Amino acid sequence: MEIVRSVAGVRRLAVRWQRAGARVGLVPTMGYLHEGHLSLIKRARQAVGRSGQVVVSIYVNPTQFGPKEDLARYPRDLARDLALCRREGVDVVFVPADHEMYPANGAGRFSTFVQEEELSREMEGSSRPTHFRGVTTVVTKLFNLVRPGVAVFGAKDYQQAAIVKRMVRDLNFPVRIVVAPTFREPDGLAMSSRNQYLKGDLRQQALVLQQAIQNVQGRVKQSSRALVPQRLKAEVKRFVERAPAARLDYVEFFDSGTLVPVSKVESGVHMALAVFIGKTRLIDNARLT
Ligand code: PAJ
Repeated sequence: MEIVRSVAGVRRLAVRWQRAGARVGLVPTMGYLHEGHLSLIKRARQAVGRSGQVVVSIYVNPTQFGPKEDLARYPRDLARDLALCRREGVDVVFVPADHEMYPANGAGRFSTFVQEEELSREMEGSSRPTHFRGVTTVVTKLFNLVRPGVAVFGAKDYQQAAIVKRMVRDLNFPVRIVVAPTFREPDGLAMSSRNQYLKGDLRQQALVLQQAIQNVQGRVKQSSRALVPQRLKAEVKRFVERAPAARLDYVEFFDSGTLVPVSKVESGVHMALAVFIGKTRLIDNARLT
């Protein structure tokens, strides 16, 4: 397994792969890898085959964090991440430093961003105004550097995956986006690097996200008529905030393709929510059936 830290280094590899006609699969991450990330790596291997190149990027991208968010304390453990990647048979891990991705001196400061302007507005976008601009910018940079034929994203970050797909279509990136299912802990909590923050009984309280989804799922199954989003949202808020440390940030019901909010909640509609458990902000989503 090769560990590459420079932009020049990863460029050289990409050029070599392109000349050789190699299949390249990219899994962008911010590290502190868990089973969810590893499932994306397996999916990338499936896509490129044994002879293909699986590249994992590990980079805590500062431009997608707001000024009051957890950039400084975001969990990191590169030694462990590299061991996990090696075990998964990853070919190349790209671990750039900030000055490689966002050069600050010499030629002037970094001043070009990629912004998706429709799907990015609601949900995560309204709670975290510059977040998706940071995501689409760094993903663009990673695509340009690695030049993957396929890139794998997780359904855990459903809106992010939809925005990346839209960006790829709008800007004609020659890459296929694969979205892999959300990987969960045995008790149903969606795996996330931020679960690390959940100390003491906060870990238990974090189950309200998944429970809220199951609750609505049950209602949709039982009800013969479509349900009213406003009423369901109020119910979800009450349900979630019965957990003492939980505060609902948003819950939304929307079309799974366009992300446009629906006027009736029924089978096929997508549900997403964000909840603060103490200071930790968690997200989850599912398609209601
Ligand atoms: P990060 O949160 O590290 O997630 C990296 C990838 O893993 C994302 O595509 C995310 O959706 C996926 N993922 C996380 N938890 C998952 C789970 N429980 N099951 C399945 N997939 C899961 O998302 C980011 O990093 C960044 O925004 C990034 C795309 C790397 C850009 O900086």
